[in-house]
Amino acid sequence: MKNYKIAVIPGDGTGPEVIREGRKVIDAAAKKFGFKLQYTDYDLGGVRYKRTGEILPDSVLDELRKVDAIYLGAIGDPEVKPGILEKGLLLRLRFELDQYINLRPIKLYPGVDCPFKEKGPKDIDFVVVRENTEGLYTGAGGFLKKGTKDEVAIQVSINTRKGVERCIRFAFEYCRKRNRKRKLTLCGKTNVLTFAFDLWERVFYEVGKEYPELKSDYAHVDATTMWMVKNPEWFDVIVTDNMFGDIITDLGAMLQGGMGVAAGGNLNPEGVSMFEPIGGSAPKYTGKNVINPLAAILAAAMMLGNLGEAKAAAAIEAAVVKTIQEDMNCMDAGKMGISTSEVGDRVAKYL
Ligand code: IPM
Ligand code: MN
Repeated sequence: MKNYKIAVIPGDGTGPEVIREGRKVIDAAAKKFGFKLQYTDYDLGGVRYKRTGEILPDSVLDELRKVDAIYLGAIGDPEVKPGILEKGLLLRLRFELDQYINLRPIKLYPGVDCPFKEKGPKDIDFVVVRENTEGLYTGAGGFLKKGTKDEVAIQVSINTRKGVERCIRFAFEYCRKRNRKRKLTLCGKTNVLTFAFDLWERVFYEVGKEYPELKSDYAHVDATTMWMVKNPEWFDVIVTDNMFGDIITDLGAMLQGGMGVAAGGNLNPEGVSMFEPIGGSAPKYTGKNVINPLAAILAAAMMLGNLGEAKAAAAIEAAVVKTIQEDMNCMDAGKMGISTSEVGDRVAKYL
């Protein structure tokens, strides 16, 4: 029997609550589909940082390099200055483990309310492939004359040929495997960012020649946000840089019914990948058993799919759809009609 080593980082705020439900569901899937999950918990996040000053000790990072996958709840603590945990933990994990793809499916499930009344599940079903190790996120830049009237702040977008190419290649491969509309859209800003997206565009059309059966399309990022609302059915797979991917996937989360259902995978196709609900730590709902755990459950399903348990992943998705239709009023915390733990119970039961 396959035995997967999973590192669990429940993290801050509602992270532990949603991770608990995710584990409940994948444990049920493991039983049903005949594999084992062996968890190791890591108490990384705001609480540990405030107690010990540690964010991500090198010894922990070395352990994380050896697991089959990482399951992450949420990072972010209102008592810690913004940027410290995000950079020191979440971004450091993405970078050190070279998780160069952030895969974010935007899928409206039947029964979920969408803010755009005329759009339904058949219209909203696409995937964003976000570059996850470069762009504006590397921390390249700095200050000159900080705190003076002549202050200069520089934040540089790093785009390497290798980083751009591996991301675009992944997106073409993914689009081919997905086999839906067979269209890959590059989202950029070639009219203004004439260096960064010149590279992206050249690589996009060059690599695209290897996939003649797929349509290659381009949209500026501002237009992309417009089409996502107006004509989301046009999209199949979107590939974009780190910053634009961050922004358009929050918009995407709203299209699919909110942060309560939005899951993502930080993928290193040749190494250790990490799966997380894309919403934050939601401090105001912490400990109340009202947060929606579906995003964490769907992230766990992605993790199983990535480990090679495609049947288990599909079964969880189907059980999530059934739970939404049978038991839930709404995707928002506090308004679901059932509690966080009940959502997990139902999904596990319908499996
Ligand atoms: C996300 C988050 C992170 C990001 C933050 C917390 C650093 O917004 O996963 O989208 O910007 O990537
Ligand atoms: Mn984000």
